[in-house]
Amino acid sequence: MLKIAIIGYGKMGHQVESVATERGHKIVLTIDNNNLNDLTTENLKMADVAIEFTSPETAYKNVKKCFEAGIPVVCGTTGWNNQLEELIKVAQKGENTFFYASNFSIGVNIFFKITRYASTLIERFGSYSPEITEIHHTQKIDAPSGTAISIANILADELSNYNGWTLKPETSDEKIPIEAIREGTVPGTHIVNFNSEIDSITLKHEAKSRRGFAFGAVMAAEFIHGRKGFFNMDDLLKLD
Ligand SMILES: NC(=O)c1ccc[n+]([C@@H]2O[C@H](COP(=O)([O-])OP(=O)(O)OC[C@H]3O[C@@H](n4cnc5c(N)ncnc54)[C@H](OP(=O)(O)O)[C@@H]3O)[C@@H](O)[C@H]2O)c1
Repeated sequence: MLKIAIIGYGKMGHQVESVATERGHKIVLTIDNNNLNDLTTENLKMADVAIEFTSPETAYKNVKKCFEAGIPVVCGTTGWNNQLEELIKVAQKGENTFFYASNFSIGVNIFFKITRYASTLIERFGSYSPEITEIHHTQKIDAPSGTAISIANILADELSNYNGWTLKPETSDEKIPIEAIREGTVPGTHIVNFNSEIDSITLKHEAKSRRGFAFGAVMAAEFIHGRKGFFNMDDLLKLD
């Protein structure tokens, strides 16, 4: 049984609470905008691990607070990649424990592997142009999604004609176009399309609810307990 602090008690925080409780863990602290003053070192020390799903503006500060309190932290907040790199480097020194994933869904991580393999085949022919479409609920703050960026990085790794991504309607020959669509309550859909003049190949992952993300985050919390350093879904799922 783990004692868990939930930082960000919104849509994901509530799902994490539900999954963690079902798996026999205890929630000892929940933080949202209404009780920010409770996010103290003393309170964090009551927990074995913190799980953070807040906003791009607040994730850096929250993860750092966990480092300062010596508490392992699992973070899934997207849209703060520049500052994230700094904290990954800090954790890699081995004194803190940090698990980050732009997408905690097991299915999406399988999708990442399939996309990489598809790209290695596409690279042999050179006649296909890649395109990514992501669809999320209208409350999502960042665009494109962290998951779409992860997919673009995989494509750019494998496809020698591309070296990054661009958010549509902007276009550039060397950048993989990402279309970000916001509609209804969609939990997260990602589509990779490889287009040629004669055909197209489409890969698609569609989350049916947020539960898969919460399940992965709780699994990550169980995984990092007792470990030091930086970890991601490759360490947890060992899909290679
Ligand atoms: N990695 C993944 O698998 C994954 C999956 C889904 C979502 N996400 C990401 O997770 C993040 C949260 O998503 P969500 O759907 O849960 O959003 P949400 O429903 O808006 O919840 C965010 C929560 O964070 C709270 N919050 C805001 N500032 C805070 C602070 N400084 N300290 C502590 N809590 C604070 C908000 O409090 P109030 O309610 O009081 O404003 C709210 O409860 C987003 O970046 C989203 O893209 C990642």
